[in-house]
Amino acid sequence: GKVAVLLGGSSAEREVSLKSGEAVLNALLSAGVDAIAFDPAQRNLWELKSLEVERVFIALHGRGGEDGTIQGALEYMGIPYTGSGVLGSALAMDKVRCKHLFQSAKLSTAPYAVVDASIGFNAQAIISEFGKVMVKPSHEGSSIGMAQACTAQELTEALNNAFKFDEHVLVEQWITGREFTVAMLADEALPVIEMKTPRGFYDYEAKYQVNSTQYFCPADISQAYTSQLQIMAKHAFDLVGAKGWGRVDAMQDENGQFYLLEVNTVPGMTEKSLVPMAAKAQGISFEQLVVRILEQTL
Ligand code: DAL
Ligand code: MG
Repeated sequence: GKVAVLLGGSSAEREVSLKSGEAVLNALLSAGVDAIAFDPAQRNLWELKSLEVERVFIALHGRGGEDGTIQGALEYMGIPYTGSGVLGSALAMDKVRCKHLFQSAKLSTAPYAVVDASIGFNAQAIISEFGKVMVKPSHEGSSIGMAQACTAQELTEALNNAFKFDEHVLVEQWITGREFTVAMLADEALPVIEMKTPRGFYDYEAKYQVNSTQYFCPADISQAYTSQLQIMAKHAFDLVGAKGWGRVDAMQDENGQFYLLEVNTVPGMTEKSLVPMAAKAQGISFEQLVVRILEQTL
């Protein structure tokens, strides 16, 4: 039956999604699948019915696409789709609630504060408590709206900018160390990737726009650390109710302690993205990866 690749959408990550969706569509076509592109920002979702679409590959990132809303609409329409369901998608898109979950499951994660636009904040008190921090809108992806802050003034600026994207903002204690990611395919953790950037952190530019980011896959860490991180990633993935595929991001401090950052339920799928990189290290081509993700809707 026909497969629609949902791409684009109206979130702040629209441009990334267009690239992910195009790469997924091309892979499906070259695998001989009857596939079409469908941008829900430009077409009514009900058209999937008249187009006789039997399954959907969700390549939408961010709000409206990765957060359970489109998943709920597809459930209602009775069309199977790739990846996580309504609850897992909604939870993973909510960084603040993920923090609560990680803590209740005793999964290591950085100390944090939550700042609400409607309540206000005391920047000096936060800096006095945590020192250097990372500011993150609760419901964004691709590092959109994120900034680091060392002083009350920097924090005030970072929070006011983050409020443009979200009324709920997470302020995390800065972890000095290395950044890793673990791709999940079905129930399996793929080889670990380390990302290194000369920029302050792995931000939007480091992810998509500059060539100075370095990737190491499999990451140059011990087998013991690799297993520890893969087990942690699988635990976090299951804890939020994620399914099918995804990617779990983490840091490791100078003492070797890992800290969970977040679970992504529709991670980037451009040819240069991290999940395809991890799959390749496991001997799974981009085309095979896309087909395996799609197969899980059956
Ligand atoms: N939010 C971006 C697409 C990622 O996690 O890869
Ligand atoms: Mg994310």
